[in-house]
Amino acid sequence: MSARPNRVTTRTLAAMRLENQPISMLTAYDYPTARLLDAAGVDVLLVGDSLAMVVQGHSTTLPVTLDQMIYHAEMVARAAERAMVLVDLPFPEGQLSIERTVEAAARVLKETRATAVKLEGGAEQAQRIEALAAAGIPVMAHVGLRPQNVHVDGGYRVQRDAQKLITDARVAEASGAFAVLIECVPAKVGEEITRAIEIPTIGIGAGPDTSGQVLVFHDLVGLSEGYLPRFVKPYAATGATITEAAKNYCEDVRSRRYPGPEHTFK
Ligand code: KIV
Repeated sequence: MSARPNRVTTRTLAAMRLENQPISMLTAYDYPTARLLDAAGVDVLLVGDSLAMVVQGHSTTLPVTLDQMIYHAEMVARAAERAMVLVDLPFPEGQLSIERTVEAAARVLKETRATAVKLEGGAEQAQRIEALAAAGIPVMAHVGLRPQNVHVDGGYRVQRDAQKLITDARVAEASGAFAVLIECVPAKVGEEITRAIEIPTIGIGAGPDTSGQVLVFHDLVGLSEGYLPRFVKPYAATGATITEAAKNYCEDVRSRRYPGPEHTFK
C-alpha cells in the first residue's frame, strides 16, 4: 500500500517497463523546483550528487556529504506529491563497509521521506545491493560512466565495454536492484543492456532504447555553466532570462524607476 494512491513506486516503474511506457526522471535539489517538476508530471525526482557540481559549484561530485544530500532530499520529498524521490548515496558512503552503506541509506529514508537510493556501480556492488534490498531499501544501480570514479578513469568518458556493462546490469538485477541507470554508453549498448534484464533501465547518454531517460535539471533549463555533454537537449534558456531580469532590476533601481507608486504603501 502507498501513502498516496497515485504515488510513483518501484511497482509503478516495473509496470511502466512491462507496458513499454517511457519513464521520465529529472534531478531536483530544492522545494520550489521539485514542486514544479512534480506538477509537470515527472515520474522520478533524483536528488543527484550532481548537486556538488550544479548547486555547490565544485568540479566533481565527490565533495557533497551525506548530511548535505539529506538536507536537499528532505526539501524535495516535501514538495513531491506524485513523483518517486530517489537519492544518490554520495562518495564514499557506497564505497566503505556494507554496514556504512546500509546506515547511510537508512538515514536517507528515515530523515527525508524519499523512498529509494541510487548506488554507483554494478557487479562490484552486488553485496551492497543485496544488503540494501534485505534491509527493505529500494536501490537503483548506476552503471557505465560513474562520476564518483572520475579520478580512477582520468576523466568522464563514454564507456564501451558492452560485455562488462551487461554483466554489471545482470548482477545488479540478480542482487535485488529495482532499476539500473546507464550513463554514457553507445546507443547499441544501452539497448543491449535493456534487453538483457527485466527491471527498468534509465538512460543518460545511453540512446533511445532504455526504459526511461534522465537529465540534470540545470542542463535541461539552461542554468549550467560552460560545456554541455552531447546527450543534453536544452529545453529552456533560463540562465539568460534570469540575467536579463537582474539587469533590468539594476537599471530600474539606479534610475529610481523601481519601486513605482504601485509598489509603495500609502
Ligand atoms: O547525480 C546525478 O545527477 C546523476 C545523473 C547521472 C543523473 O546521477
